[in-house]
Amino acid sequence: MSRNPRVAVCGATGAVGREMLKVLEQRNFPAAEVVPFASARSKGKKVPFKDGELTVQELTHECFEGFDLALFSAGGGTSETFAPSAAERGCTVVDNSSAWRMNPECPLVVPEVNPHDLEWHKGIIANPNCSTIQMVVALQPIHLEAKIKRIVVSTYQAVSGTGQKAIDELETQVRRLFNGQEVVPQVYPHQIAFNCLPQIDVFLDNGYTKEEMKMVHETKKIMGDPSIRVTATTVRVPVFFGHSEAVNIETETKLTAEDCRALLATAPGVEVIDFPEKKAYPMALDATGRDEVFVGRIREDESIENGLNIWIVADNIRKGAALNAVQIAEKLLEMDLLRVNR
Ligand code: A2P
Repeated sequence: MSRNPRVAVCGATGAVGREMLKVLEQRNFPAAEVVPFASARSKGKKVPFKDGELTVQELTHECFEGFDLALFSAGGGTSETFAPSAAERGCTVVDNSSAWRMNPECPLVVPEVNPHDLEWHKGIIANPNCSTIQMVVALQPIHLEAKIKRIVVSTYQAVSGTGQKAIDELETQVRRLFNGQEVVPQVYPHQIAFNCLPQIDVFLDNGYTKEEMKMVHETKKIMGDPSIRVTATTVRVPVFFGHSEAVNIETETKLTAEDCRALLATAPGVEVIDFPEKKAYPMALDATGRDEVFVGRIREDESIENGLNIWIVADNIRKGAALNAVQIAEKLLEMDLLRVNR
C-alpha cells in the first residue's frame, strides 16, 4: 500500500478502545486519519487523541467505507455483527474480542510468536485473550529451545480486563466499604473488593470456565502445536491493571533455571526481573502502563525431571489487548499485508 491507512477504532469509548488510541499516538502509527466509533449512545462524545479530541461516530455496517484498517474492541457480539461488514469493504479487521479467535479462517496472532500466520488472513485477524498473550510471549522461546510438553497455569487477573464498568465497580466497592456502607455486586457475581473470584467468564459443561478453556485452545493455535497439554485456573483479583500468572511447565529436554533466565533475557518483548536476594520480581503495579512482558521467580520444579516454575506479569490492557492489536497492524504494514487495493 503506497498511502497511509485510514484507521477506524471501534469501541473507542471503552477501556481498551481508549488505550488503542493512546498506543496509536505513542507509537506514531502512520495513519492518514483515525476515527473513533462506538454505539449510538456515544455518538458525538469526544475522546482524547494527540493534542486534541476526536468526535465519536456511530458504528454501522456502512461506516467502514473508505477505511483500510479497523481495530475492534467492542465486545464479541458487536465484532460478530460488524467485522464481516468491514472486511467486505476492503477494511482489514484486528479484533480484540473472542468472536473470531478459534475460527479456522482467522489467524490468531502475537507478533513475537507467530507473525507468519498473518500471511493467510482473509480480512479478519484475531487478537488473543489477554492472559494467553503474555503467557505465550514468555513461553515460545522456551518451547523452541526445550519443547514444552505440558503447561499448568493459574492466573491473578485485574478487573480492567472486564472493561470500564468493572474498574468503576472495584473503586466504588472499596470506597463504600471504607465508609461502612453495603456493597451490591453488579458486574461480578460476588464482591470483588478484598476478595478473589475463581470464576472468569461463564462455566462450561466440563466444569472449567470459558476463560480457562480460551487459554487451553488459544495457546495451541498461537504456538502452532496442538500436542502441548495445557490446563488453567483463572482467578479475578482486586487489582485494577496488570495480570499475573504462576506457570508450571514440563519440557522434553532439560532447561536449567539459569539457562531459562539467559534465554528469556534476550527474548523479544520480555524483560526478566529475577533477583530474589533484592526481593525483586515482577508485580502488577510496576507493569502498569508498560509494554513488556515481565518474567521472574524462575525456578526448577524439583518434583519432576524437566520442569520449571515461572511468574509472568503484563499490563492486560496494553500487551494483553491494545498494544498487541497495534503491533499486529504494524506487522501488516511491514509485511505489506494490509491488502487494500482501491
Ligand atoms: P459505548 O460506550 O457507546 O457503549 P468496555 O469493554 O470498556 O465496556 O467498552 C466497550 C466498548 O464497546 C465501548 O466503546 C462501547 O461503546 C462499545 N460498544 C458496546 N456495544 C456496542 C455496539 N452495539 N455498537 C458499537 N459499539 C459498542
